[in-house]
Amino acid sequence: MDKFVIEGGHKLQGRIKIAGAKNGSLALMPATILAPGTYHLTNTPNLKDVWTLSKILETLGIFSELNGDDLFIDTRNINSTFAPYELVKKMRASFYVLGPLLSRFGEAKVSLPGGCAWGPRPVDLHIKGLEKLGAEITIENGYVVAKAKGHNNRLIGNKFTFDISSVGATGNILMAATLAKGTSKLSNAAMEPEITALARMLVKMGAKIEGIGTNILEIEGVDELKQCNEETIPDRIEAATYLIAGAMTGGNILLEKVNPYHLSAVISKLEEAGCEIDVNNDKIQLKMENKPNPIDVITSIYPGFPTDVQAQWMSFMLEAKGITKVTDTIYFDRFKHVPELQRLGADISVNENLAIINGGKHLSGAMVMSSDLRASASLVLTGLVAEGITEVHRIYHLDRGYESMEVKLASLGANIKRVKTDLI
Ligand code: UD1
Repeated sequence: MDKFVIEGGHKLQGRIKIAGAKNGSLALMPATILAPGTYHLTNTPNLKDVWTLSKILETLGIFSELNGDDLFIDTRNINSTFAPYELVKKMRASFYVLGPLLSRFGEAKVSLPGGCAWGPRPVDLHIKGLEKLGAEITIENGYVVAKAKGHNNRLIGNKFTFDISSVGATGNILMAATLAKGTSKLSNAAMEPEITALARMLVKMGAKIEGIGTNILEIEGVDELKQCNEETIPDRIEAATYLIAGAMTGGNILLEKVNPYHLSAVISKLEEAGCEIDVNNDKIQLKMENKPNPIDVITSIYPGFPTDVQAQWMSFMLEAKGITKVTDTIYFDRFKHVPELQRLGADISVNENLAIINGGKHLSGAMVMSSDLRASASLVLTGLVAEGITEVHRIYHLDRGYESMEVKLASLGANIKRVKTDLI
């Protein structure tokens, strides 16, 4: 197992390239199930979550190969509609294969993803939506067993309103609706850039979708789709994490290959906190000379402040003198990083989904444990400013979503090393 050893107190300076979006790739890859053919997905991040999804696709008979950031997928020989627990449990996004399998083959058996480090994270909306499109669904031995009831085992287009805006459920049902017989209307659909990017790829494949980028998607089902090539959008969460790292260390950094438009909410909060930000096409320059102002955030669906940046923002606000409030309205229990941040000297109290940060306190290095992906990022960021040495353990969580984080941070001047450890 690996850990990061970080010596705090080094300013970040220089430029780095942002990778393709993890959540973008995880949505595009299952879409390839919808049509037989060979696909070339460019700007794919080299991440554990991408490998996990590739393994699931392999169990379905799909060949995939990641070469640099080029992902090649061949879906001409799919021979199974079964996604096993051993793989699905590793990553919730694996559940994305359910909609496309069911829609193309009329049946699928996909394991329920199970719990998550920060709460129950149900999949009821995925199931309700697919039932609305004419699927008969039963839960058997921990598996979702789904059959399309329409003529020739097809799904049937219908109207569906998501009670809660859900990225995963929107992606799943959108993919399913593309090959359903008739028209579907999805209301209160997620508008996250990764869903918009998925919809654009589906259109390239021949899907008929109106309302892309809005929360109402109208899909006219087609009889078949065709293969296509697609570029993965830049990772807005990775970009936000490095912007915050730059700001926390009083640095001056340039991010390349980003989509600043996807980061509007984060950029405006960074500016309120006192950062100087210049945006130029696909580049963002951040300069920070002083300690930040305490700036509250409330996470919400896109285009609001992302829940995936909440933990990193809390780390940032440890540097701001005074009280900051961070409220997570997407996940009510996503504060597993707090006890670990407290080990570094943070003064934070949590009441339900509200964290109150009393910033400006002395932070000193310690041994800390990662509990999930973004929590890990917040520990690394805090390690960059804490006095002395911080060891971040269980960074396999971090490797799920950050491509070579230690290499990127070291290239910006951080003192950070990946070290093997026996401690688990
Ligand atoms: C995706 C992202 C994740 C991000 C999250 C919210 C991927 C692979 N992951 O996760 O990084 O944190 O969006 O932006 O893209 N919900 C239900 N029932 C459901 C589905 C969701 O109640 O069937 C609830 C969830 O518990 C949560 C809210 O809806 O409170 C939003 O979750 P959702 O958008 O579905 O998150 P994911 O797609 O799992």
